[in-house]
Parts: sequence; C-alpha cells; structure tokens
Amino acid sequence: MAKIFVARALPGNAIERLREAGHEVTIHGGSMPPTREQLIAGVAEADGLLSLLTDRVDGELLDSAPQLKAVANFAVGCDNIDLAAAAERGIPVGVAAHVLTDATADLTMALLLAAARNLPEGERDAREGRWKTWEPEGWLGRELRGAKLLIIGRGRIGQAVADRAEPFGMQISFVGRNDDLHAALAEADIVSIHCPLNDQTRHMIDAAALAAMKPDALLINTTRGGVVDQAALIEALHAGTIGSAALDVTDPEPPPADDPIYSAPNCLIVPHIGSATATTRAAMGNCAADNLLAALAGEPMPTPAPSPPSA
Ligand code: GLV
Repeated sequence: MAKIFVARALPGNAIERLREAGHEVTIHGGSMPPTREQLIAGVAEADGLLSLLTDRVDGELLDSAPQLKAVANFAVGCDNIDLAAAAERGIPVGVAAHVLTDATADLTMALLLAAARNLPEGERDAREGRWKTWEPEGWLGRELRGAKLLIIGRGRIGQAVADRAEPFGMQISFVGRNDDLHAALAEADIVSIHCPLNDQTRHMIDAAALAAMKPDALLINTTRGGVVDQAALIEALHAGTIGSAALDVTDPEPPPADDPIYSAPNCLIVPHIGSATATTRAAMGNCAADNLLAALAGEPMPTPAPSPPSA
C-alpha cells in the first residue's frame, strides 16, 4: 500500500482505480490549486504525487517528499516539473500523452474558425444592438480555402490540426526545431503553435518573430503562454504588426484582471480549455493512474515524460 497525494479532485475513475489497487489516496479539496505550503505538506509522506499543470514540482518540493517514488502529471505538458531535478533523485515522471491530441486539435480549429470569421465581435454586435441590417461589407472575415497555415512543432497535436485543416482547403506547412522559423512565419496567413514550452522555446515568438509575420496574420496558441513573449504580442496587436491572436494559454495564467492582454485588439482569449472535454479529462486521469500504478509496482511508466536535456 502506497500513499498518493492528488493535487485536485479529478473527473473519471482514476482515484477509484488507485484506491481499488489498495493505495491510500489523499485529495486536495476545493477548486483552487494547493498553495505551495499545502503541496509541500501533501507530499511530505507521499509515495506518489498526481500533479496538475498548476503545481510547481521542483527540487525543493521533491526534497520535502523523502518517500516519493513517482510523479504523474495530469497534462501532456510538463513544464511545471523540473525533470532534471526528478531524474537526479531517481523519481520517474509520467505525462498524459496521446489522450488529449484530438480535443486540443479540435479546440485549435474552434479558435481558428472563431478568429478567422470574427465570431467574438459578431456575437457582441448581435447582442449589443449593432446588428442593424444584413451588411454587404460588415463583419468580413478570412477565407480558409487557400490560406497558408503554418504549424510550429512536428508532434502529434500539430499533425492532428493539419488533418483537420486540410479538408478546409488550407495549405499546410510545418516548422520544427532546426528550420528557419522567421522565413516560415513570413509566408503564413495563420500560425498555430504546437511545441512544448522549454528553455529552447520560451519566448520563441518574440518581437522579431512577430515582425516577420504578415500584417494580417492570425496567431493561435494552444500550448503554453510562455512560448510567446506576451508583452511583444500586445504591442504587435496594437501596432498592427500582426492582425489577430487566439489564445487558449497566456502568461501568467490567468492574467490578472488589469492585464493589458485583455485590451489588446483582435485578441480572442479562452481559459486553457484545450483538453476540456469530459472524455479527454477522464482519459487523462486514467493515464496518470496507469503511470502511478506502474511506477509504484516498480515497472516503467507507460507514458513517461521526455528525458531532461542533460540526461
Ligand atoms: C494541457 O495544457 C496539457 O498540457 O495537458
């Protein structure tokens, strides 16, 4: 029997499965993440940690958990976890890989369509009395057939977005780690980011990258806010360096109420809901449970996090 600390109540039957396997599970209650103190107290006697992307798992936290044998993140991203610190301490880390590809790609298309056809503005105008008549020149959006979609990242989610965009008649290209990002950005009408956040990708979309884009380009971000230099994005939207942005993720999350991102023009923001379908969230829980159950039984995790760069 192992002790497992779960950092938030989860949908699906992950907790039930952990308990059925004979483990003692403690769940942090409430809708907000545990504070740092609560997280440290939560892992103090834990053998396993089921963390969320809102929980910082670093060397200090791992050192306050002398029994810890496994960390399973309820996310495909793992930028909240210091993978090198975990590796140094021999603690395996698992992620919810594979299971949220479709949901995230669907949300990317929802953002793409909403931004391309001005849905937020149209909705506001319809409700707020600005819809006076059918307007031949009103609410003109972007045609998708023939539009050039650049996908940053060559992973599963980017490919799933490409699979969805192709039937719309979009011209799709990919840019990866070793390609000329700025040259690719200069050609694109729509840019969608699907690379993980790490030391190489932090602020990859900075002022220079934004300046390389077309003045009417749409930037979509469903990965992590930190891949984009948000101050530079706000400036670019005000200056018309790019046309619009659609963000599922911001930096920080959520932005404070007075954050200038909220007043940037043509910027659609939703609250990090890429994986937010009941089916996907249940699958993510199962993935985390599978990783914990395997590691606590001394077996390899089915979906481990990528190895840290120095490993
Ligand atoms: C969500 O953003 C995830 O990484 O799972």
